[in-house]
Amino acid sequence: MLKPVLSAHWDESDSYTIDGYKRHGGYEAAKKALAMDADAVIQLVKDSGLRGRGGAGFPTGMKWGFIPQNDGKEHYLVVNADESEPGTCKDMPLLMANPHVLIEGMIIASYAIRAKHAFVYLRGEVAHVARRVNAAIADAYKAGFLGKNIFGTGVDLELTLHIGAGAYICGEETALLDSLEGFRGQPRLRPPFPAIAGLYARPTVVNNVESIASVPAIVANGADWYQQFGTEKSKGMTLYSLSGHVTNPGQFEAPLGITLRQLLDMSGGIRAGHKLKFWTPGGSSTPMFTDEHLDVPLDYEGVGAAGSMLGTKALQIFDETTCVVRAVLRWVEFYKHESCGKCTPCREGTWWLVQAMKDMETGKATEADLDKLLDLCDNIMGRSFCALADGAVSPVASSIKYFRDEYIAHITNKGCPFDPVASTLFAVSSQENA
Ligand SMILES: Cc1cc2nc3c(=O)[nH]c(=O)nc-3n(C[C@H](O)[C@H](O)[C@H](O)COP(=O)(O)O)c2cc1C
Ligand code: SF4
Repeated sequence: MLKPVLSAHWDESDSYTIDGYKRHGGYEAAKKALAMDADAVIQLVKDSGLRGRGGAGFPTGMKWGFIPQNDGKEHYLVVNADESEPGTCKDMPLLMANPHVLIEGMIIASYAIRAKHAFVYLRGEVAHVARRVNAAIADAYKAGFLGKNIFGTGVDLELTLHIGAGAYICGEETALLDSLEGFRGQPRLRPPFPAIAGLYARPTVVNNVESIASVPAIVANGADWYQQFGTEKSKGMTLYSLSGHVTNPGQFEAPLGITLRQLLDMSGGIRAGHKLKFWTPGGSSTPMFTDEHLDVPLDYEGVGAAGSMLGTKALQIFDETTCVVRAVLRWVEFYKHESCGKCTPCREGTWWLVQAMKDMETGKATEADLDKLLDLCDNIMGRSFCALADGAVSPVASSIKYFRDEYIAHITNKGCPFDPVASTLFAVSSQENA
């Protein structure tokens, strides 16, 4: 039986207030953690098996353990609330429904890594979320949960909300740190990693909103309780975001390892009268899947073994009325626009990807151009400074892998052969034109 943890009280009208949060035991986990040894808190999070929910699935407790102790330096916790990947929409609903669970998680994490100042880096466009988080921070200060001598324990923590200017690259943790310091957001060369030289060149942990928001329940209920959810190497409950052509899009909290088939059962299925064509397991930067992949376990290992990445668990669902070439063109336009320009393969390559995809979509391309497009992907993938460029390549390469016929049909038809009104895949098929 699925019992939500993170989203348990989202339906209550005051779930976002400090009183609504405290009614369900809010801030008790922070009191418990601050009475523990800081290293024991890190060990507890390690034992739980929690892995970062920002995309890569890096073990959270291990990341905290990398912070050098007794080095006499300031340490920082930075929460990544940039959430700009197309399709990704879990952190903003979480912050709207329950900002206090993030604040409580930040108190615990900051204590564990010995940070006295923590930051939330929020994307610039979401003014309503900024207002909500600001109000929650003010209430937490008023209640004595932030500031000096939290819960009378002698532990201090200042929490600052920083609003970004709305750049996707500022979700990349080192570009985020540059932006937070007041510079133009561009990724930094690593090493040194943020754990050694992060914000203001001090040891810093950067974690996703959902990662930190998962911590209070772990402290309250223990590592064994958390371990019961999920699969062997991907533990816990998590938020899956279903968007697109589903009957009831939204957030679905489930154990890691659930399949899309099960999630579609929970969300009323593909919209009436239509069938699944393609989907992303973790946002547009993760290679797409098709209806062959309905039973792939949605955990880090299962999705990886099937040729993609779990990413942010942003399941964008497209039915047979969608032209895959057009959808991929829209995605690469996004990556071209968001490329920070620091390195050549991405700055130039994403521009060329858009040109080549436009030619495909408008029927100006030839079959040789399809090979050129794949060549272009090879020249970008793994050759760029950060993962933004790999993300730009993913939808292109994976769509050609699964829908080569649809690309060929664009070429032979000299334009989009797709008839969305009749909901047919091809008005003209490649075979008919041969
Ligand atoms: C282009 C790009 C954008 C990213 N955007 C985000 C984001 O919006 N939120 C996020 O948590 N991580 C994002 N990441 C991943 C972060 O760099 C980092 O791995 C993550 O914040 C670590 O948190 P976690 O360990 O809790 O997952 C992005 C990475 C790249 C390459
Ligand atoms: S891969 Fe793109 S976004 Fe990343 S550093 Fe290079 S130009 Fe910037």
